[in-house]
Amino acid sequence: MNLDWKSATKRINKSSFYREQFRLVFGDIEIDSVLIAKAIAQFERTLISCNSKFDRVLRKEDKLTPEEFRGYEIMNDQSMADCLHCHSTDANALGTSLKFSNNGLDEINDELLFTDFGFGTTTGNKSDYGKFKIPSLRNIALTAPYMHDGRFKTLREVIDFLQQWFAFQSNH
Ligand code: HEC
Repeated sequence: MNLDWKSATKRINKSSFYREQFRLVFGDIEIDSVLIAKAIAQFERTLISCNSKFDRVLRKEDKLTPEEFRGYEIMNDQSMADCLHCHSTDANALGTSLKFSNNGLDEINDELLFTDFGFGTTTGNKSDYGKFKIPSLRNIALTAPYMHDGRFKTLREVIDFLQQWFAFQSNH
């Protein structure tokens, strides 16, 4: 959060919501950096997934239903949704090529008009403006909101956007 511990503990201690949550979990002791780190670590453990159905399918221990297979096909076929160049899913269950890319969120005709230069902030390279890290699609149903600025609240909104983007690209 770009804060030193002193400011972070002060901020958390000021919030009656957090004070109550910490009291429920840790009892009546002062909230300090150790408790905050423990709380964050515990939260992160809830995000670990290593044995999803897709992992089992890749290990040939399980099979996709016809509907799931259809989705897999659509994502990985260049003549259909063509997600694979960025979110590769065939070889691993991470769902990202780990590269940076511009997925067409902002329709602008000059790089300088991006509200967030993204990767370009780091490289200083104009051609990187508006590029963001291609995120993993693991646990994607559980990690709303979506995109670097959280502009989409649901996966439905993401798909609606991608559909428009795809139609736009095919017409140009
Ligand atoms: C040209 C590369 C590219 C293609 C093709 C692409 N994406 Fe993405 N996708 C990205 C990037 C980059 C982001 C992150 C953008 C951001 O952070 O603002 C992203 C974000 C997402 C997110 C939100 C993830 C999150 O945690 O916020 C979802 C869901 C997603 N893509 C699904 C898809 C699907 C489904 C397809 C195929 C229809 C697809 N993408 C095609 C590059 C791509």
